[in-house]
Amino acid sequence: MRTIYCGALTSKNINQEITICGWVHRRRDHGGVIFIDLRDREGIVQVVFDSDGGEHFSSADTVRSEYVLKVKGKVRARSSETVNSEMPTGEIEVYGLELEILNASETPPFPLDEHSKVGEDVRLKYRYMDLRRPEMLKNLLFRSKVTATMRNHLDGKGFLDIETPILTRATPEGARDYLVPSRTHVGKFFALPQSPQLFKQLLMVAGVDKYYQIAKCFRDEDLRADRQPEFTQIDIEGSFISEEEVMEVSEGMIRSVFQELLGADLGDFPRMPYSEAMIRYGSDKPDLRIPLELVEIKDLMIGVEFKVFSGPAKDPKGRVTALRVPGGSTISRKQIDDYTSFVGIYGARGLAYIKVNNKDDLEEGLQSPIVKFLPSEVRAAILERTEAENGDLIFFGADKEKIVSDALGALRCKLGEDLDLYTCGWAPLWVVDFPMFEETEEGGWTSLHHPFTRPSCTPQELASNPGEALSAAYDMVINGTELGGGSIRIHNLEMQKSVFDILGINDKDAQEKFGFLLEALSYGCPPHGGLAFGLDRLVMLMTGSDSIRDVIAFPKTQTAACLLTDAPGYADVKQLREMNIQLKEKKKVV
Ligand code: AMO
Ligand code: AMP
Repeated sequence: MRTIYCGALTSKNINQEITICGWVHRRRDHGGVIFIDLRDREGIVQVVFDSDGGEHFSSADTVRSEYVLKVKGKVRARSSETVNSEMPTGEIEVYGLELEILNASETPPFPLDEHSKVGEDVRLKYRYMDLRRPEMLKNLLFRSKVTATMRNHLDGKGFLDIETPILTRATPEGARDYLVPSRTHVGKFFALPQSPQLFKQLLMVAGVDKYYQIAKCFRDEDLRADRQPEFTQIDIEGSFISEEEVMEVSEGMIRSVFQELLGADLGDFPRMPYSEAMIRYGSDKPDLRIPLELVEIKDLMIGVEFKVFSGPAKDPKGRVTALRVPGGSTISRKQIDDYTSFVGIYGARGLAYIKVNNKDDLEEGLQSPIVKFLPSEVRAAILERTEAENGDLIFFGADKEKIVSDALGALRCKLGEDLDLYTCGWAPLWVVDFPMFEETEEGGWTSLHHPFTRPSCTPQELASNPGEALSAAYDMVINGTELGGGSIRIHNLEMQKSVFDILGINDKDAQEKFGFLLEALSYGCPPHGGLAFGLDRLVMLMTGSDSIRDVIAFPKTQTAACLLTDAPGYADVKQLREMNIQLKEKKKVV
């Protein structure tokens, strides 16, 4: 139908006769001349109909926003005073010769031609309209380029693109499963995969050697700005591959995506052990663009009278930490109160601070609600250890280790954003040497990654001291976002059993849940490992989007619903009967 995209027209096309198709972005009637901004995937161009156009001019008079048009016209230069430097096609316009209205449109539920504040609910209900907005389409185009670049990169390195099932058994990635009842096996359920983890390992047993997949994953978990119940991974696995090699391949892929699509050189990817990340940044995904660091002061606080500090200082599971903000003494009382409420979200019961007005005067030079509780040698030691200068502000956290790390780690990022402390555009790193397990509140153990991650010790060492064991796992973090993670896997049956043992998964359960994997390990499973990147998060990061929903064509809401299709919906009684399912609340059945 068309000869060129609206958005592709430039002054090179001047004097050409072209045919374009698209939607009416805006229509202006200047008495005797009608201007139509016609929009398609690639952009917007101005079309002009004047009264010489006869029937076509009359048709142009009837079109409204979002009508679908086919226009034949001649490209001409705009006069110098009408050139629009804001528009990529602003040097030219199309003089309309013929107009065909391909379809009409109701008045759109929200205007698409301005950056008006439209509620997200309305945008999601009419997502197909929302996606017509140039900034949304741009994200989808960008996403498509990211996957194309990744595919090229991985294909070039000999990775095979293989699909794995969606109707499957539970994969333990730490979230709840989405279940699908089976009609043919009454009373039984499929689980949607939380990741292709088990199948990609089986592909290694099968000798595929190098696998990748752009895979849909499903996790029924609490949603946040960077989480969706249904999301996409770039999932990668290789055999006879070391940690170093997995990191090299995936780092190369991410580097080439940033280079090709943003022209950005990511520079070095430093390696940081998990323990160091937690101590220095209070987070296993530190944002290294921010130059602030946490400083341990537990030892200084053991003897002080101030119980808020001495309590956690004496507690082996406690943490007492300072966070110095250079030049922070201009932060107002009101802002400090706001930061105190902010750390409260993470469980902190307060946010003590010292404003350093004059570091040489330990009596009068420190402004703080807590300094009176601290002897002067402790004041001096804090200033020395935090390397405080006049005009700085020091925040303090004292509580259980996790609370302090979460609270001050998050405060560090918030200060970075609020005070615009960023030192660079992109700050990537690998976080390595994760602990194998985390202690649960009930005193048991849970995997920090997943139970198929290989520990960096023997099964015997693992069993005797699970809390100390490290794993061959690695996460790639950029600007404080965990983009991806993976590990070298257990390929040995004895080791896999020891891990299940520590996790409290007995033989019967292990057999029932993962019998197929355990069996596969005993048929010549090669050493293997890999990782998975969150595609949605990557695109979000690269496009600078605030919400993961802005980079997904049809996302779910924060309550895991689709407002467009009204999913999830009630099931038909007949369907339920076929699956032998009876709902407790009958009214919920249609
Ligand atoms: P993991 O659970 O760390 O690892 O997931 C890998 C990456 O997927 C992204 N991600 C998500 N993105 C959006 N919404 C979600 N709910 C969500 N959950 C995770 C993150 C994360 O880094 N099988 C392992 C990988 C492996 O070991 O190879 C796995 O799934 O960016
Ligand atoms: P309080 O004695 O509770 O009035 O607290 C005195 C100061 O210590 C206030 O500035 C509180 O915000 C701060 N504070 C209280 N609990 C903590 C804590 N667990 N960690 C850091 N600061 C705290």
